[in-house]
Amino acid sequence: MLVFLGSVLALSISFLLLVVMAAPCIRKYIAGGVCKSTVKLIGKVAVITGANTGIGKETAKDLAQRGARVILACRDMAKGEAAACEIQTTTGNQHVIAKKLDLADSKSIREFAENFLRDEKELHILINNAGVMMCPYSKTADGFEIQLGINHFGHFLLTFLLLERLKQSAPARIINVSSLAHRAGKIRFHDLQSEKSYNRGLAYCQSKLANILFTRELAKRLQGTGVTVNALHPGSVRTELTRHITIINSLWSMIHFFLKTPQEGAQTSVYCAVAEELQSVSGKYFSDCKPAYVSAEGRNEETAIQLWKVSCELLGITWD
Ligand SMILES: NC(=O)c1ccc[n+]([C@@H]2O[C@H](COP(=O)([O-])OP(=O)(O)OC[C@H]3O[C@@H](n4cnc5c(N)ncnc54)[C@H](OP(=O)(O)O)[C@@H]3O)[C@@H](O)[C@H]2O)c1
Repeated sequence: MLVFLGSVLALSISFLLLVVMAAPCIRKYIAGGVCKSTVKLIGKVAVITGANTGIGKETAKDLAQRGARVILACRDMAKGEAAACEIQTTTGNQHVIAKKLDLADSKSIREFAENFLRDEKELHILINNAGVMMCPYSKTADGFEIQLGINHFGHFLLTFLLLERLKQSAPARIINVSSLAHRAGKIRFHDLQSEKSYNRGLAYCQSKLANILFTRELAKRLQGTGVTVNALHPGSVRTELTRHITIINSLWSMIHFFLKTPQEGAQTSVYCAVAEELQSVSGKYFSDCKPAYVSAEGRNEETAIQLWKVSCELLGITWD
């Protein structure tokens, strides 16, 4: 009996030791792709939406470290200014500023764009990063379902309003932060605002699919302008994105070790923004700093065109 217990103990200790020794390798694997580019961004201007926390903040920090002038477009100015201050201190780059942008209100988006176009003469990198996930049903100020409204319509309008400045500053890049969740998405044109039925998970997937379709259609329209647009999945990242779902929030804390840190999650955004080899790559989707699989729905040309038309109609804009 004693011999048996001794063997069990020895086996358990060996297993634990193995796990401890393998931990750095496991962590490295989870961290995923790393942006290896050492490109400097002195003289370049970048706008990052939702940059007061999570992936957006880490992306902003990286671009600031490279010398860019970085505008953190945030809905909460207190959080935005605190993040700008922190990034200034850690990077030594004083050209990091916060500006008010609420993507759930087209009036705020227009005010942000007006203010930006008045103050900044160039725009080289636009990162449409802000997002909400699985919120209880509500609508934006313009009557859009909240997830589609912020994640898609808000960024669609913002990009439209800033596009001329991007073209004038070419070469320039637009980066849309989508998600692997796009694969479970469908654009429900018959009930786009989920008024007849609302499933908060599927509404998130729809909004992330919309990011992919927008990228695809915009890339076609930007050919020959020197402005590229790409989409990406950042990985599974420990951020505040799960704030609306208690179960996932608790699960996220339990599997902490197996999630990317925000800095690791920012790598593909930074890669899309700076990598030399992507200079003329457009309309693609990346994950872990390399091309990734897009679902059949995400490659559907007809859906992309229809979504473009509906988005223009609902936002009251003409964008050919
Ligand atoms: N974390 C992941 O595992 C994961 C996986 C796949 C894709 N993504 C995508 O990555 C992006 C960044 O998410 P994250 O994980 O970094 O989440 P996060 O920590 O919750 O950050 C989201 C950011 O978006 C901002 N935001 C929300 N609503 C806004 C609005 N109406 N106007 C302007 N800004 C608004 C938030 O501002 P407040 O702080 O004021 O709320 C926050 O700064 C999202 O597009 C998300 O869909 C994340």
